[in-house]
Amino acid sequence: MALLELAGIARTVRLPDLSELQILRSVDLAVDGGEHVAVVGRSGTGKTTLLNLLGLLDSPTAGTYHLDGVDVARLGARARARRRGEDFGFVFQQFNLLPGRTALENVLAPLLYATGRTFWRRRAVATEMLERVGLGGRLESMPARLSGGEQQRVAIARALVRSPRIILADEPTGALDVDTGAEVMTLLDDVASQSGAALITITHDLSVAARASRHYRLGDGVLTPVALEPARADALASLTALEAGA
Ligand SMILES: Nc1ncnc2c1ncn2[C@@H]1O[C@H](COP(=O)(O)OP(=O)(O)OP(=O)(O)O)[C@@H](O)[C@H]1O
Ligand SMILES: [Mg+2]
Repeated sequence: MALLELAGIARTVRLPDLSELQILRSVDLAVDGGEHVAVVGRSGTGKTTLLNLLGLLDSPTAGTYHLDGVDVARLGARARARRRGEDFGFVFQQFNLLPGRTALENVLAPLLYATGRTFWRRRAVATEMLERVGLGGRLESMPARLSGGEQQRVAIARALVRSPRIILADEPTGALDVDTGAEVMTLLDDVASQSGAALITITHDLSVAARASRHYRLGDGVLTPVALEPARADALASLTALEAGA
């Protein structure tokens, strides 16, 4: 069984007028460690909803989700919270750093819940992680003093500091210029593959999507695989055509 496996996942919400909105209808997806999967789709198609379900921040209204062979619907609240903290790293469009904390303190934050050796070595572990993302010289900088690309690198260090098996990135380059976005994605790809983690990237940016090994389009509540030609140019062309609704 794959590291994570979704089968027939649906998510419905009740709107204030009591009508029901079906955001996800039937999503199937299997992802293994070391894979990089990209999901593209128009605004409002449910990409963030899907990522929240994957990261155990939300629960589906139908379907099954197996994480490492375990049906997550069977996990109690504590086990679920533990898996969320240990197995997942999140990277967001707006970085979501703690504004009053230094870069080092931001990366330390997830380690306050770690146990054993990692907890006792937490400063060293966080420092090493910031060095890996090229910010060893900015440990004491506040987020507001860092550029957008640097802030996202701090967020990547924070996402990876507990060695998660799955990294969920929601529009990680959405607030960055093209070149900085490419640098940040290269870094994210590198650190994810070095650690053998699965990386699931949601993006509007087709050059970002093209870096992944598998591609899907979310639309009408279902996830459709996008078959890619070997050449990146072809990949981009087919994704562009799909995005345009062709
Ligand atoms: N809890 C909720 N209650 C009501 N509607 C919701 C809820 N969560 C999401 N939605 C709606 O579901 C749809 C999908 O939302 P979602 O945030 O997943 O889209 P998205 O694909 O991430 O969009 P974007 O690309 O703009 O970030 C939207 O129409 C949104 O308004
Ligand atoms: Mg979204």
